[in-house]
Amino acid sequence: MSRGKFISLEGIDGAGKSTHVVYLANLVRSLEQPLVVTREPGGTPLGEKLRALVLSEPMHAETETLLMFAARREHIERVISPALERGDWVVSDRFTDASYAYQGGGRNVSQQKLQQIEAWTVADLAPDLTLLFDLDPTIAKNRQSNAGIIPDRFEQEQQAFFKGVRNKYLERAASFPQRIKVLDASMPIAVIQEQIKTLVFALVAETK
Ligand code: TYD
Repeated sequence: MSRGKFISLEGIDGAGKSTHVVYLANLVRSLEQPLVVTREPGGTPLGEKLRALVLSEPMHAETETLLMFAARREHIERVISPALERGDWVVSDRFTDASYAYQGGGRNVSQQKLQQIEAWTVADLAPDLTLLFDLDPTIAKNRQSNAGIIPDRFEQEQQAFFKGVRNKYLERAASFPQRIKVLDASMPIAVIQEQIKTLVFALVAETK
């Protein structure tokens, strides 16, 4: 039994990630590939409780960081690693890159601290492919206002915060070009879907 593939989706709030998760999941299922679709923070009963807290409760940036990684530790142990070991594929709406982008790029938690906590909670587990939906924060904000959603603690942040998040994501994409693929989220959905398909087929081809 070969190990499954792990795909994560990333991007600032409003970049359209949620739409693409659905498309990606259907695409993987159409390949008759057993699949677990999950999200961070969350993905386990405890993780979902932590998610509710970090999305609503005011807290220090490092407390927020620790809770994100606590939820992730549980998620890896109970969901992600068992699935990959069974040979299932895993699609996760966000993973560790989000902590570097939001807590690092957005809240200025140091890279060194993030690396330390990543080393002991995540170790060397990384997605095989990360789709980064890149979008100008101003466009993302307009999309969200149009969608009429009630903003959570992150979505209430100002443009400067999202600029920091976006830049950190792009910096990580430049550091891990094999894994992180940047998709221009201002393009029509159909164009982005074609790009996702090409990347997923390339991943399948790697496995064979
Ligand atoms: P999000 O995927 O945007 O959920 P939804 O589409 O339902 O709003 O994720 C929730 C928020 O959590 C998002 O604003 C980013 C934030 N987040 C972090 O700050 N750090 C992390 O490590 C993760 C996984 C998420």
